[in-house]
Amino acid sequence: MSGPNTSYDPVEVSALDPQQIEADVEAALQAFAQAGDLDELKTARLAHAGEKSPLALANREIGALPPSAKAEAGKRVGAARGRVGKALKERQAQLEAERDERILREESIDVTVRARRRPSGARHPLSLLSERLQDIFVGMGWEIAEGPELEAEWFNFDALNLPPDHPARQMQDTFFVDPPQAGLVLRTHTSPVQVRSLLERGVPLYVAVPGKVFRTDELDATHTPVFHQVEGLAVDKGLTMAHLKGTLDHMAEALFGPGTVTRLRPSYFPFTEPSAEMDFRCFVCQGDSARSSGSADPCRTCGGTGWIEWGGCGMVNRNVLRAAGVEDPEYTGFAFGMGIERTLMLRHGVADMHDIVEGDIRFSAQFGLEA
Ligand code: PHE
Repeated sequence: MSGPNTSYDPVEVSALDPQQIEADVEAALQAFAQAGDLDELKTARLAHAGEKSPLALANREIGALPPSAKAEAGKRVGAARGRVGKALKERQAQLEAERDERILREESIDVTVRARRRPSGARHPLSLLSERLQDIFVGMGWEIAEGPELEAEWFNFDALNLPPDHPARQMQDTFFVDPPQAGLVLRTHTSPVQVRSLLERGVPLYVAVPGKVFRTDELDATHTPVFHQVEGLAVDKGLTMAHLKGTLDHMAEALFGPGTVTRLRPSYFPFTEPSAEMDFRCFVCQGDSARSSGSADPCRTCGGTGWIEWGGCGMVNRNVLRAAGVEDPEYTGFAFGMGIERTLMLRHGVADMHDIVEGDIRFSAQFGLEA
C-alpha cells in the first residue's frame, strides 16, 4: 500500500489490480474445471469464492477507496465475482448430474429378473401318517401315551413276560447299550409303554402309543434298523377278542377305506394270550392271485397269498397285567402293534424303504399337506 488515502488509486492496490483480478478469476475457473467431484469442488469453492478468497478480500478493499474510485472498482470486482459464481454454479450442476447418473447406474436393479422363490419344505409322510393314526384313536376317546427310546430291559422284556432265559427274547434283534450291567436297550417295540402307562395311569385305560423303535436289521428295501410303531392298549372290565377285532377293523377302514377286509391268524407273543397276526386283503390283487393258484405270475405285493401282514395283537397276558399292578381279575385287556413304515408302504405303494428314510424333499413333497 502506498500514498495517503486521498490519492488512493485502485490500480495501485494490488488486490484490486485488474490484471490480478483477472488472474484470480482465471485461477477460480481453472480450479472449478479441474474439480473432479463435489468434494473437490467444495475445496475449490472455499479457496476461490469463500470469505477468504482473493476476490472476497479485494471486495473488502473497495470500502477503503475514495468515493470516486469505488464505483469502477466495485464494478470490476462485482463482475469478476459474478463470473466466478456463475462458473461455480455451472460446475456444481454438472458434477451433481454426473453423481446422480452414477448412482442411478450403480444402484439400479433389474426388476425383470425372475425372483428366487424360497423353497418351502414338506412334512414327512411318516409324521403325517402317525398323526392320522393318533387322530383315529383320539376320535374313539383314547389317550396318546409316550415312553423313552432308551428303555430298561425290564420294561422292554421282563415285564412283558419275557424273562432273561426266555427263547422269545431272541425273536427281536436287540441293540444292547453299554455298560451291560445298566440293563438298558434301545426299545425293540412300543410294547414297554403298555406297562409304563398302566403303572402311571391305572385302569381303565385306553392308550395309543406312537414311537420310534430299533432293531439290528440292515437297511434294505423292506427293513430299516430304526422304524416306527403304533401300539394300542385297552384294559377295562370285560374286554374280549371281539373288542380287539372291532377296533382293528375300525382302524383298517379309517386308513384304507370302507369295506377293508381283515383277518386274524393265530400267532405267538409272550405278552399276549391268545395272540394273533392281523392281515389285510391284498390291495393290489384283492386276493385274486391266491384264488388263481398256480398262476405263473403271482402278485408281487402279497407273494400270491392274497393277504398282507399288518401287525401283531392279542389279549394282554395276565402276567403283564400283574407286572403292571393290575390284580383285579375282572380287568382284561387287548393290545396290538404295527409298523408305521410298513403301513405307509401299503397305503401309498411305496416300493422301497430307502425312499422313506433318505429324507429327499422330492419324496416328502408328494404327500403335500395331507390333513
Ligand atoms: N410288540 C410286537 C412287535 O413288535 C407287536 C405286538 C404288540 C403284538 C402288542 C401283540 C401285542 O412285534
